[in-house]
Amino acid sequence: MELQGRVAVVTGAASGIGLALTERFLTEGMSVVMADIEAEVLHAQSARLLADGAAVTAVVCDVSDADQVAALRDTAVSAHGAVHVLCNNAGVASGGATWRTKPAIWDWVVGVDLLGVAYGVHAFTPLMVEQGEGHIVNTASEAGLCATPMLGAYHAAKYGVVGLSEALVMELAGTGVGVSCLCPELVRTMIFESTRNAPAHLGLRKPEAVSMEMLESVMKTTALDPALVAGNVTDAIVEGRFWVLTHQSTRTRVAHRNDRLEQEITPEMLPMGVK
Ligand SMILES: NC(=O)c1ccc[n+]([C@@H]2O[C@H](COP(=O)([O-])OP(=O)(O)OC[C@H]3O[C@@H](n4cnc5c(N)ncnc54)[C@H](O)[C@@H]3O)[C@@H](O)[C@H]2O)c1
Repeated sequence: MELQGRVAVVTGAASGIGLALTERFLTEGMSVVMADIEAEVLHAQSARLLADGAAVTAVVCDVSDADQVAALRDTAVSAHGAVHVLCNNAGVASGGATWRTKPAIWDWVVGVDLLGVAYGVHAFTPLMVEQGEGHIVNTASEAGLCATPMLGAYHAAKYGVVGLSEALVMELAGTGVGVSCLCPELVRTMIFESTRNAPAHLGLRKPEAVSMEMLESVMKTTALDPALVAGNVTDAIVEGRFWVLTHQSTRTRVAHRNDRLEQEITPEMLPMGVK
């Protein structure tokens, strides 16, 4: 797919992978509609890019609300005339024992991470099918391909994004609309400080700053620069490639999970650091 002169919508665009996608798309000569729930940071980032002459439009949007996602589509079309690339990227993470996870936390995590993607697909796909071209990138995670303890709600949502994306790419074959599923392992972003965006009624503590170096050491992996991930995604859009994996260890973990599945053996976590 040719990117120059095209229009992208990126959710979760105020930070991390979404901001890196925005910046990469701008360097490819695209216009970008940046959507995020964190209004102040979104406006600060979009003002910085606008000051550099970039073609960006900022839209405050909670992706877990289908009406707000439909309004995002309408704003994007009226501001830029069309949408060619949609990155359903906004996400939050919440840890803790799966069986102790409260219903309101399930609602939040599944609402943003899974339903946010579903609402994006519902709002934007008809436009792309009608124009006969487009590309949808759904951000899942390595956590959508294999599980570790203490992340049940996040796994449930991200496995859902993988399944939704696999169904979608089959359904859209021959329409000119491509699909990619991004499954990163550790990336240097603010995902571990997600409670900053949690609805107030959940009563979650605002996060302490989380050290990436600490996470790298516990997870025995390298945290990637989001710009590198944005580059992988851009290549996948141009090449029409579905899977976007960021770490070799993801392949090892998935193979381990699938071997046990094939043999009908109970899941077991691979030790951290297995390459
Ligand atoms: N960073 C990692 O290690 C990693 C690994 C695998 C997958 N991911 C996924 O990558 C995606 C991007 O996260 P990130 O790592 O850049 O984290 P991040 O926290 O830096 O960025 C996420 C963005 O999503 C926004 N957001 C949160 N809730 C929202 C809502 N309801 N509506 C709209 N926007 C909302 C946040 O304000 C933030 O700007 C997420 O889907 C995350 O699950 C991240």
